[in-house]
Amino acid sequence: MVKSRIAAVDVGNDALKGNFGKLENELYIPNVIAPDLEDRPVIGIEELDEKEVLDNIHIRVHSPALDENNIVYRVGNLATKTNNSQELDPGSSKSEEDQTLIMLFAALALDAVSTNDFKEKNDVIDATYTLGTGLPLREVKEGKDVGYRSQLLGSVHQVEFLVTPKHQGKKVNIKFEEVKVYPEGFAAYVNLIMDNDLKVINKELIDKQILIQDIGGLSTDIAVIRNRNVDDDKAQGFNLGVSESLEAIREEIRSRHGVELDSRRDVVDIITRKNDRHHIMVRGSRTNVHDITDHILLDLAKKEYRFLRNVWAKNSQSEICYFVGGGSAVLKDYIKALNNKLDGYNIEFFEDENESIWMMANAYYKLITDFSRKAEKDTKEEKTTEKAK
Ligand SMILES: Nc1ncnc2c1ncn2[C@@H]1O[C@H](COP(=O)(O)OP(=O)(O)OP(=O)(O)O)[C@@H](O)[C@H]1O
Ligand SMILES: [Mg+2]
Repeated sequence: MVKSRIAAVDVGNDALKGNFGKLENELYIPNVIAPDLEDRPVIGIEELDEKEVLDNIHIRVHSPALDENNIVYRVGNLATKTNNSQELDPGSSKSEEDQTLIMLFAALALDAVSTNDFKEKNDVIDATYTLGTGLPLREVKEGKDVGYRSQLLGSVHQVEFLVTPKHQGKKVNIKFEEVKVYPEGFAAYVNLIMDNDLKVINKELIDKQILIQDIGGLSTDIAVIRNRNVDDDKAQGFNLGVSESLEAIREEIRSRHGVELDSRRDVVDIITRKNDRHHIMVRGSRTNVHDITDHILLDLAKKEYRFLRNVWAKNSQSEICYFVGGGSAVLKDYIKALNNKLDGYNIEFFEDENESIWMMANAYYKLITDFSRKAEKDTKEEKTTEKAK
């Protein structure tokens, strides 16, 4: 039994990424929810057992932090299969959307039912977390992190599992011992220069002025790091990510080849897989779709490159720009080619796309474990000095 369990959660516009307890203990859930208007037919338990928990997240959520309470939601893959699914719009504020909280609570509840860290009694689990999470720079700049944090800290949030295999009927009461909200760009910087114990591993980088361009599903953020800190005034956010282009590719494949792909994820698979990249099957024949993916992705890469130029022009003494986020993985080759042909900036990508995608969550994990270790040490010291008195 633990007093409080560590959680590091990046609620991305495209997908939630979380580390719970240990760094290896991961959850990845597409950021899609659908309010359940009719009752979902209750399927037999035997049938449920065969199913994947993550594909069947079906919950009722109650929390004073929500605008709308006691609503039943399908979350993640289960929500994508309905026709009333909600994804976040570009331009919306993460800190002000119920959707952000629903995703966060769903992930924490899923972790709570799968760990032995908490007490379970009559299917009710009391779960206490020390949470590290983040918001886009723009929202932190506007001071929205303060309200976001206090509404999480201030109350108990309840998640009840409905037609979810293995966990049907369980209720989780989520409380927070501490919540830290970091600006996304700063987190990426921490991850670049420090190891899991927050020891500096990248000495050359630490005092340089650097840029970090995070290309996400719906947004692109460019952070400027100077004097070991995020320069709030220089950072820029753009309402453009890769989702739109993935949708455009899907649409063009439908109109040109009459093939209906299930989701944007299928498109990502077609453009990134190791074997048979840029090919689909059309009525049983292997068909090249490279011309479609190429012109749409090149178009997006050009726009992203313009963002870089724009920010670099205003921060001319920057030494390097790191590209992170899932979008960087998708656009890597295009942006590199443009850069070779055009301005020749000093830019860097990550070899492993997982590193790009998990950058934020892993950084929050480093920051929050360090915070929690220090807090523990402080209370121990307090206790010993008290005894000594
Ligand atoms: N393994 C992968 N390889 C390549 N691309 C991926 C991979 N996983 C996800 N992507 C794509 O990268 C895009 C951005 O993903 P990412 O997780 O960085 O966005 P996000 O953090 O959820 O969004 P935002 O930063 O806008 O809040 C997604 O649209 C996704 O389709
Ligand atoms: Mg992101």
